Parts: sequence; structure tokens; C-alpha cells
Amino acid sequence: MCPPEHFGVLYEINPWMHHRVPVDRERAHSQWEQLKRTLEQAGAQVEVQEPRPDLPDLVFTANAGIVNGSQFVPSRFRHPERQAEEPHDVAWFESHGFTVEHLPEHVHHEGAGDALPFGDVLLSGYRFRSDAASHAYLSRLTGAAVRSVELADDRLYHLDLTFCPLDERRAIVAPDGWDAYGRKVVEALVPEPLVLDLDETLAFCANSVVVGSTVVMARCPPAVGRRLEAWGFDVAVCDVGEFLKAGGACRCLTLALDVTVGPQGARSAGPGGRSADSSTPS
Ligand code: ARG
Repeated sequence: MCPPEHFGVLYEINPWMHHRVPVDRERAHSQWEQLKRTLEQAGAQVEVQEPRPDLPDLVFTANAGIVNGSQFVPSRFRHPERQAEEPHDVAWFESHGFTVEHLPEHVHHEGAGDALPFGDVLLSGYRFRSDAASHAYLSRLTGAAVRSVELADDRLYHLDLTFCPLDERRAIVAPDGWDAYGRKVVEALVPEPLVLDLDETLAFCANSVVVGSTVVMARCPPAVGRRLEAWGFDVAVCDVGEFLKAGGACRCLTLALDVTVGPQGARSAGPGGRSADSSTPS
């Protein structure tokens, strides 16, 4: 996580952002601290990245890149406003012992905001921020099979606003965010989906952080809470209202570091061994 010292809505790159709406820095800070505490109480250990004055969206660490064991694939941000985050993120991961491997320069991909592991595959969104063409490169770099989902609603511009893996069989899903083919892809992938309606989706219910059996979310409509509790999850609600002004909620404010994507061990064969999909993307 990255503290919101310099957070603000200073430009508009998604439909939630209005630079005339002021952010209450103090409230943002206490909301962020409360989220961090909640994650820690649920059992997470939180690493903190240093904030930077010129990078107001750096708080949304989900977009730093994709973590795969000790490998880190940094994002290629679509908007120039966020592109300066990349070297800052790369420096953090390098200094923490990760091997950094880059996507080609001409493709856009916004990290864990648009790519979430489910079972053996990496589900990745495209259109508003990430390019469909990035998926083949991601597959090559990580060794994971990538399933692509086209995002259909610009308010739901990242996959993590529409999809949240809960365990090997279950995920929170928001079909309103996907085109017809994308819905079929997720239907075939997730045996037990918790399906959100549009109101629940726009309340950022899919943008949740799962720590063990705790689901941390911005708001929890009763119907969503009941379904999660019936599955044995505890729900912790964290008000992140200041961050919603920038179009991000709980999950966007975090990046999981203990993630391995693709079939277990696919990367342990060493260089040349991570070739689950070694075809050259066209
Ligand atoms: N203001 C940020 C942007 O538009 C919000 C990022 C939200 N992050 C996410 N993982 N959905 O880029």
C-alpha cells in the first residue's frame, strides 16, 4: 500500500474523477489507515511504498503491475498522467528482491487492476486501459494461460471493479461490466459465482480485498453480505469515500505480494522452462 500524502483528483482519466471536487486529505488519511488496520487485523502483513508529490494516483497500488512469485511485470499505463509511476514501482520491486520483466513498450496493461488469477488461469480485462494485445505477452512472461474479457462500461474501466476471486471455486462477479463473450468466459471459469447487480457493482462491491476468510469492502448491501456469510466469509466494511472520488476502492488501494499465477511450479523450471505459451504474439 502507498499512503495518500499526495493523493488528490488532479486530472480526469475515468468517469468518476472530477478535478473540481476537492479531496479531504485528512479524511483520506484516516480512511487509508483504517483500511490498513482492517487488513492487518484480518491477518495481512502490509508493506508500505513511499508516496511521491507528483503522483496522486500512486495510492492505487493495484495498478503497479503483476506479481508472480518473485517475478514482477510492471504496468504500461494508458494515460500519460500515470506513466511516471512505473519507474517508481520498478525501483520498489527491484529493491525488494523481485526480478523485473517488462512488457513491450507499445502495449498497455494496468497490472492487477486488469489481471486477476483464478485457478490456473489469469483473467485479464481489456479495452479502456489495457490492450487485448498485452495478454499474449503476459502469458509469455508469466507462463500462465490468460483468458481475456472485454470490458463494456467505462465506469467499470478496470477488471478489478467487476471481478473478485474468493477461493478456488468462488468469485464475486459483475457481468454488467463485460461484453457477451466475456460473460461466457467467466461463466465457464467460475463454478460458484456471487453475481452482483448493477447497483451493487457501482457500489464497488467487487473491488474487495480477500484476506483468509475476511472480505474487506467499501460498502456491503445486505444481499451481498448474506451470500458471503452463507459461504463462511466475514465481511469488514471500510469507508474509502475519499478514494471513490478518483474511481478507486479497497482493492485498488492494495497489491497482493504473495501471488503466483498459472499452474503451480510453472515458473520453477527456470529460464526457458516457463513456456506454457511460448508462441510469439502477433
Ligand atoms: N484514478 C485512478 C485511475 O483512474 C484509479 C485507479 C483504480 N485502480 C484500480 N485498480 N481499479 O487510474
